[in-house]
Amino acid sequence: MQVLNTIAELRAARAGISNLGLVPTMGYLHEGHLSLVARAKAECDAVAVSIFVNPTQFGPNEDLARYPRDLPRDLSLLDAAGADLVFTPEASEIYPPGFDTKVEVSGVTDVLEGAVRPGHFAGVATVVAKLFNIVQPTRAYFGQKDAQQSVVIRKMARDLNLPVEVVVAATVREPDGLALSSRNSYLTPPQRAVAPTIFRALSAARDLFNAGERDAEALREAMRRIITAEPQMQVDYVSVADPTTLHELTTVGRDALASMAVRLGATRLIDNMRLFSRTP
Ligand code: PAF
Repeated sequence: MQVLNTIAELRAARAGISNLGLVPTMGYLHEGHLSLVARAKAECDAVAVSIFVNPTQFGPNEDLARYPRDLPRDLSLLDAAGADLVFTPEASEIYPPGFDTKVEVSGVTDVLEGAVRPGHFAGVATVVAKLFNIVQPTRAYFGQKDAQQSVVIRKMARDLNLPVEVVVAATVREPDGLALSSRNSYLTPPQRAVAPTIFRALSAARDLFNAGERDAEALREAMRRIITAEPQMQVDYVSVADPTTLHELTTVGRDALASMAVRLGATRLIDNMRLFSRTP
């Protein structure tokens, strides 16, 4: 496994690899990231992983300074997982003095996370576009847990004709249903104990949908009721939206994205579940 800190080193190391998979991360890796590495290994000739806590996707009052970091542990996990290249740039390598360009995807970034985190998706789209240009992967792997991020990145790649296949892999969960996230490390034991309420609420919406409920507000209300019954939790938003446009639905057809953002003390958790019907 080669660890590369600069764009020049990364470019030299990736030369000659024709089918390269990229797993972009902000480090503090967990099984969700490692499942993306495993999938990339199965589908590509070699796997590159980037570890970069991207400052431009954090708002002024967000957790950039305290975002968890443990590079030695990440590198040993990636070595064991069989990653070939690990790109660990400094912020000055990605955003040198005079850097002035932004990638803004409009429409799908106006709602959900985009509505409560202004500038977040411009930060994500800009750094991911740069990583695609630097690493030049054939495929890039993202987790379904950040559902809106995947929609934004797919749209950016399509709109800008970026020659990369965006692969979105299923969310990896703890046995009690909590979606794996680096931010779970912020939770105190009492908060961790109630965190699976989010999965329970999403599962309740899915069960109602599978039982025939098609009124989107009834599904949102069922999720809200479960979250608000937990005194430690506050709802940021609860959504049942079209999975491509992310517009809130009135009536669900065959397919919807149920999602939510919840505050648990100082920690903000997001999660989602796709609702699918086999019959029209
Ligand atoms: O999902 C993440 O970890 C980040 O948003 C990403 C895609 C690595 C961009 O910084």
